[in-house]
Amino acid sequence: MLRGKHIILGVTGGIAAYKTPWLVRDLIREGADVQVVMTRSATQFVTPLTLSTVSKREVLMDLFPPSTEEPTGRWTEHIDLALWAELLLVAPASANTVAKIAHGLADNFLTTLILAARCPLVVSPAMDVDMYRNEVTQANLVALKEAGCHIIEPESGELASGLKGPGRLPELARLIEFLEKILTGSTRDLAGKKILVTAGPTFEPIDPVRFVGNRSSGRMGFALANAASQRGAEVTLVSGPVSLATPRQTTRIDVRTAAEMMAAVDRLFPEQDALIMSAAVADYAPATIAEQKIKRDRSGSSGLSISLKSNPDILKALGSKKTNQVLVGFALETENGLENARKKLSEKNLDAIVLNDPGVEGAGFETATNVVTIIGRSGSPRTLPKMSKFDVANEILNEIAPILKSVR
Ligand code: C5P
Repeated sequence: MLRGKHIILGVTGGIAAYKTPWLVRDLIREGADVQVVMTRSATQFVTPLTLSTVSKREVLMDLFPPSTEEPTGRWTEHIDLALWAELLLVAPASANTVAKIAHGLADNFLTTLILAARCPLVVSPAMDVDMYRNEVTQANLVALKEAGCHIIEPESGELASGLKGPGRLPELARLIEFLEKILTGSTRDLAGKKILVTAGPTFEPIDPVRFVGNRSSGRMGFALANAASQRGAEVTLVSGPVSLATPRQTTRIDVRTAAEMMAAVDRLFPEQDALIMSAAVADYAPATIAEQKIKRDRSGSSGLSISLKSNPDILKALGSKKTNQVLVGFALETENGLENARKKLSEKNLDAIVLNDPGVEGAGFETATNVVTIIGRSGSPRTLPKMSKFDVANEILNEIAPILKSVR
């Protein structure tokens, strides 16, 4: 399955680096063309000579030639290699390299290459249990997942330090199986599909400094964009004001108001195969926007009334226009959830609706997890257990993947 595939193996400084010659040998046996890139620390655990010999390619390590008098002629090697690669695996990925990737550092050949790569990036963290469990490492791994990297969870067991817990590099067969899944398309079932995702809140200005808006972190929509892109879709993400990193290989358009979101979605919709409206669009906007900051009433005796006008229902407008596109909406309900969600499904001409109740533990705006029920046009509603927003995103995509296959 890996025959002819261009794979870059990034080896970093952890004890599990001693297993990488076998990993290279197994990848080559599967037919892959493997280029090894090492960090300086990795050379403390396995020699470049060993990895060059098994990969039959010179191992790369330095960004710059050893001496300026000896130009190598390889001026843009990191970019050339980044374009050559069909998959980039970092194994073992040390806590240090995970942190660097999460923050976009490019201080050695490997991290520079990772920044430039367009192909799927797979990171296999392996380190001592306390370093792995450290909350900074965990936050960095979450950031990598949210940015669209594939993370292979380490195995639990005895570690080099004698401690026990998660941190071991998985069995090589498991690593290879994971790569095959990514490369052979079992996880790229949305290849060739164009998916438009909306995310975050909209802010409707009252005056130059104040706004009316909904609570929404945008995480659910960003997870959807990330998951769809990992499954091969061409994703455009229209986002309200959020502070989240753009998932790899998605086109992001930032908007502030419902009217701006409407304009962007309306313009992009005709060429899309699916629209997933996870944005928490403000239903109302101030009827007029004050040109200057509204002054506070210093006496405190009178309040302030703001007159609101209704915003357009973006999803409903597109539901009435759609040809054979797949439309997914969200319903945030605090009472009579199923009944209200079903009503919206039919009123807005949707193919599926995702119901959530922010009152449930582990669901809602600022959490990394969600608890949802997915309601399709036919079939009974599927209530999912509490899971990460990324996993919820994949469940939603599982719901629409067969429709997308059949209609377009
Ligand atoms: O009717 P309700 O606002 O509960 O429906 C929620 C769904 O409709 C969400 O998918 C949301 O993104 C979408 N919506 C919209 N335009 C609005 C309000 C909600 O597209 N003005």
